[in-house]
Amino acid sequence: MKVQVCIVGGGPSGLLLSQLLHLRGVDTIVLEKHSRDYVLSRIRAGVLEQGFAKLMREAECGERMDREGEVHNGFHIAHEGVLDHVDLHKYSGGASVLVYGQTEVTRDLYEARDRLGGKIVHNAEDVTLHDLTTDAPYVTCRSEGAEVRVDCDFVVGADGFHGVSRKSIPGEALHEHEKVYPFGWLGVLSRTKPVSPELIYVKHQRGFALCSMRSQVLSRYYIQVPITDKVEDWSDDAFWAELKRRLPQEVAAQLVTGPSIEKSIAPLRSFVAEPMSYGRLFLAGDAAHIFPPTGARGLNTAGSDVHYLYHALLAHYKAGDSVGLKDYSQKALARVWKAQRFSWWMTSMLHRFPDRNSYDDQLQQTEIDYVFSSDTAMRMLAENYVGLPY
Ligand code: APR
Ligand code: PHB
Repeated sequence: MKVQVCIVGGGPSGLLLSQLLHLRGVDTIVLEKHSRDYVLSRIRAGVLEQGFAKLMREAECGERMDREGEVHNGFHIAHEGVLDHVDLHKYSGGASVLVYGQTEVTRDLYEARDRLGGKIVHNAEDVTLHDLTTDAPYVTCRSEGAEVRVDCDFVVGADGFHGVSRKSIPGEALHEHEKVYPFGWLGVLSRTKPVSPELIYVKHQRGFALCSMRSQVLSRYYIQVPITDKVEDWSDDAFWAELKRRLPQEVAAQLVTGPSIEKSIAPLRSFVAEPMSYGRLFLAGDAAHIFPPTGARGLNTAGSDVHYLYHALLAHYKAGDSVGLKDYSQKALARVWKAQRFSWWMTSMLHRFPDRNSYDDQLQQTEIDYVFSSDTAMRMLAENYVGLPY
């Protein structure tokens, strides 16, 4: 089989890119290791910046997002029992974010691919990338017992952190930067009314907590736990009791609890691979970078990669201009690193670090006090949270 762009990985990055390219007449195929049901069973963050929402509309997948997503103009930070407000709208010059689950984003993208008859191979086994530094790269895999070979002009590695694409780049051509945090987030999804109309990020002596939501009847809560904890260690009752302890009293009093529909522990990691291209391979999304979830940068930064790569590929195919492809890695990484800085900053400001001392505690509290006493600091927070320009 021959296509122009072979996309490895059918998560949000791969699907969004294939949808955008298809709409502009560029032929793609998506090779996904798992089944569609498996991909759609993963629960991830749920805050979309405006740039990402705009890309979804451009990809003709924004209808349900605009109907069901909730516009949020701000969020809260709770610290020392006080609930402070971040007015995103005011401090970002009128921007906001959309609360809409990543699982729903992926579902909408799959439906859009179906509508256009997009080529997706599910349960693709042993995906292998070949001849990436030549003009004729190709990808092989096994699907339903048959060998598949895809010849293409370009390969896009959108296969997440554990995918094969980044690993296909020789070690000497790749620099990996990593920071692993000594804790995780225990998350619970429950069919209950959210405790607050806006998100609440909580800094507490017992550890960080987050009150989020998927809709007005579906809540998503998280608490920071030691990385050694297992989900089985946490009954629903124990989770709700610990969350309540970390919330300001007036918030805890409003908390509606219920059975968990989903409960899982996610480790916190910051990771960047440089460069994001090698020969005719281009990495996008989690294949190239991982963010701790604190600032909701993961999916949103995958979106900016897709934006740069989409425009670079269009320029190549429509105008014979390959400068965008040459500059893709540098351009994408400039924004990736700013998002890394922001998610590291939010994570450092709000979590309880096991090796901290009283000096660290004072600095951490001062950071929060500074944000809420300086318009300039507040603007820095707001402009990053709603998403830096592409
Ligand atoms: N071959 C083919 N597909 C693969 C392979 C492989 N060897 N390895 C992994 N995949 C698939 C995974 O099954 C998954 O569906 O690649 C997809 C990658 O999807 P994600 O991990 O969701 O990554 P991405 O699409 O870049 O999404 C961006 O934003 O909020 C963050 O981490 C969150 O997933 C999110 C990300
Ligand atoms: C979520 O709703 O899952 C969520 C929201 C904001 C974050 C992280 C996760 O920063």
